[in-house]
Amino acid sequence: MAYVLEEIVRLSLSTLSLSAGFCLILTLLKVLQLYWKKKELIKIYESFPGPPSHWLYGHNHKIRQREELNTLLSWSEKYSPAFTRWFGGFMPVLVITHPDFAKAVFGRGDPKSMTSYGPLVPWIGKGLLVLDGPKWFKHRRMLTPAFHYNVLKPYVTLISDSTKVMLDKWEQLITQKKSVELFEHVSLMTLDSLMKCAFSCSSNCQVDNDLDYYVRAVYDLTYLVFQRFRFSFYHSDFLYRISAQGRRFHEACRLAHLHTDKIISERKKLLQDEREVEKIQKKRYLDFLDILLCTKDENGDGLSDEDVRAEVDTFMFEGHDTTASGISWLLYCMARYPEHQQRCRKEIQEILGDRDTVQWEDLSKMNYTTMCIKESMRLYSPVPAVWRQLSKSITFIDGRSLPKDSLVSVNIYALHWNRSVWKDPEVFDPMRFSPENSSQRHSHAFLPFAAGSRNCIGQQFAMNEMKVALALTLLRFDLFPDPAKPPEPMPQLILKSQNGIHLLLRRLHGDHGN
Ligand code: HEM
Ligand SMILES: *[C@@H]1O[C@H](CO)[C@@H](O)[C@H](O)[C@H]1NC(C)=O
Ligand SMILES: *[C@@H]1O[C@H](CO)[C@@H](O)[C@H](O)[C@H]1NC(C)=O
Ligand SMILES: *[C@@H]1O[C@H](CO)[C@@H](O)[C@H](O)[C@H]1NC(C)=O
Repeated sequence: MAYVLEEIVRLSLSTLSLSAGFCLILTLLKVLQLYWKKKELIKIYESFPGPPSHWLYGHNHKIRQREELNTLLSWSEKYSPAFTRWFGGFMPVLVITHPDFAKAVFGRGDPKSMTSYGPLVPWIGKGLLVLDGPKWFKHRRMLTPAFHYNVLKPYVTLISDSTKVMLDKWEQLITQKKSVELFEHVSLMTLDSLMKCAFSCSSNCQVDNDLDYYVRAVYDLTYLVFQRFRFSFYHSDFLYRISAQGRRFHEACRLAHLHTDKIISERKKLLQDEREVEKIQKKRYLDFLDILLCTKDENGDGLSDEDVRAEVDTFMFEGHDTTASGISWLLYCMARYPEHQQRCRKEIQEILGDRDTVQWEDLSKMNYTTMCIKESMRLYSPVPAVWRQLSKSITFIDGRSLPKDSLVSVNIYALHWNRSVWKDPEVFDPMRFSPENSSQRHSHAFLPFAAGSRNCIGQQFAMNEMKVALALTLLRFDLFPDPAKPPEPMPQLILKSQNGIHLLLRRLHGDHGN
């Protein structure tokens, strides 16, 4: 009996040591593999030196979140025109801040890398922003008519209405001394506009606060996705899922989908009604959601439910968060530079006469206002950076090259602050965008909407919305910065302000804006 027991113990001990040994070997192999990978990566990126980096943390520990943009600007000047930034020890990215380098990248059709855009997928799915190849092409071609100018025309009135709701709210809020934090109000306004324009949904979300949860979920999600991208620890799906951030992300996704699922199912219900379908077919132009649900390809196949959901999630997010950032920073610039605010107001008053609503024809007359919008997007680019994974090797104009599969990022924010392209980049000077000056500049020096085939499909919509929002705001209010709370720009997926955007508003009394 004792003998048998002894044998069992010995056997299990030896299996134990066997498996321990096995584990040890596996670990060693893994370490060796990582070592080789690191060596290879260093070699690939060695011709684009950047600041010294830690073997495991990369540059992460050198960048504090509040300082991120300034650190990047100083690095890009020191290591111009392109340098390697290590996101952790095993993910180097070539950061580009030179117009010619940007041109080389945007002139190709490289895919969005899953390393950088992957964290977005559980939230916005594989919609236009993330897709690649023939499927991207098919979706882009299908959705382009949703942004035809005949479709955009009636939107001007809808955006005017949404803006007025926001301004009415501000009138209730303002007191002489207290400043208003704009970003959340503007986000609800742009969400309201987008829902009316692209989804034909008249929501009351600015007043009822019934979509605050969606806006907050998006705020959380853009922060969390950016954090996940930055910290290699979170790149592993398993580790992310069990982490506190991962669980927060999961919950925010659930909330965001609650909203978009509702929009889709309501429209689908409508489409079961034949009279509704007839009405839609009679419309000369379909809205975005009609296109998604009704378009069929040559084989008579429509989009799958999953594809529809991805596009709705993509546009719901891209279509409101970007313009909310653009408009908030624009209003801040106006407050900060009163002489330009005054000039825009004068231009707008001359165009509108005694009307208090903007019309389509007005938009193309707002020359100075448009220059101010561009200058504001130069200083505060709503999308600070984009990423690509090279599908084949690239050689830049200075002869240096990178092989297939490397990651590159065009840092639009830093590009817009490039001193050799923009004299005194920190100065707000709309005259940079006068027709004469614009025609002399490099084609890839100003890229708020990116460039090439993967540029922003909503850029015209966005410009219109910014013009309408600015025009109506300036007719109603005088804007002043709050000296106690200057905004601190902070990159997430979208440019936000660490402490919000606070302005003092004073009601203008005149013939306008009643
Ligand atoms: C000020 C406002 C906006 C800015 C600065 C902006 C900027 C950009 C940029 C830089 C890209 C390229 C992204 C990349 O390469 O990863 C992009 C793509 C995109 N934008 Fe915008 N955007 C704005 C507003 C909008 C609006 C209003 C919509 C929709 C209504 C929209 C929908 C999209 C979509 C769907 C893509 C992906 C296009 C594709 O890859 O084919 N954007 N945007
Ligand atoms: C800015 O652009 C110029 C080319 O116009 C380039 O030579 C320079 O390196 C760029 N600077 C930075 C900081 O990237
Ligand atoms: C505004 O710009 C357009 C085209 O750029 C030009 O034709 C027009 O004369 C300009 N209007 C004013 C008032 O400067
Ligand atoms: C071009 O830009 C410079 C600097 O911003 C400005 O001083 C000048 O007036 C502009 N020129 C024209 C023709 O607008």
